[in-house]
Amino acid sequence: MSVATRSAVPVRKFSNNPLIAFYQSSIGKKLIVAVTALILVLYVLGHLLGNLQIYIGQDRINTYAKFLHDLGPILWVIRSFLLAAFITHIVATIQLAQENRLARPQKYAVAHFQRSTIASRTMLVSGLIVLCFVIYHILQFTLQVTDPKYHELYDSSGRHDVYRMLILGFSHPLVSLFYVVGLFLLTAHLSHGFASVVQTLGINNRKLTNFVSIGGQTLAWLVFAGYVSIPFAILLGIVR
Ligand code: HEM
Repeated sequence: MSVATRSAVPVRKFSNNPLIAFYQSSIGKKLIVAVTALILVLYVLGHLLGNLQIYIGQDRINTYAKFLHDLGPILWVIRSFLLAAFITHIVATIQLAQENRLARPQKYAVAHFQRSTIASRTMLVSGLIVLCFVIYHILQFTLQVTDPKYHELYDSSGRHDVYRMLILGFSHPLVSLFYVVGLFLLTAHLSHGFASVVQTLGINNRKLTNFVSIGGQTLAWLVFAGYVSIPFAILLGIVR
């Protein structure tokens, strides 16, 4: 039974190029998923700090938005780097999930199916919904195609009025609800991701495991609270 099971697992060939061979190995892909996740988490944190300036006021957040746009070519380098990290993260994750499915020995089918695929399926589905959220978000606030009025918003200094654009955007309860759902899934994804990184890196130290896992989850939910506070503050008229 176990011999038949083992012979069913396909034999993998590795490239002669060490970089490609590293990517082809399971641990290489896992490390790439972890490193790209870290880059994206840092962006999510930085973006949150930028957005929280809405509470300081219109002038502050508009100055910040103008500063980012004035970066010009540097902004494009950062955008390309982030996009590459985002795509690599998604592709490597999907490939890992496929490899795990192929390599899973039949004799553990029942016991392992329930534990590992529910977790990985949730990660895949929540990750794909987060992808839809980010695409809608960029269409809304960066490309400003969801509402033609966004293009006509300027403050008294002639800068694009990001402050009023956010108020206009989140004044629609359905848009705000969509954000809360998207942010919830992003947080669930991040929260589970921290626990996965501990496993991926094979950390055996209990204190360190707890620190990364509990600390990461706490951070993920703080990020959630910070982001969702914005649509809520707008809907409740605290920011207007
Ligand atoms: C309430 C939550 C959020 C608010 C208020 C917000 C606000 C904004 C604004 C105003 C912009 C346009 C910046 C500009 O071009 O001037 C933007 C762009 C962007 N946001 Fe968010 N954001 C939120 C959540 C998120 C989340 C959770 C993510 C990531 C998962 C994210 C990723 C992005 C990306 C990738 C861009 C495009 C950046 C660029 O143009 O270079 N945002 N966001």
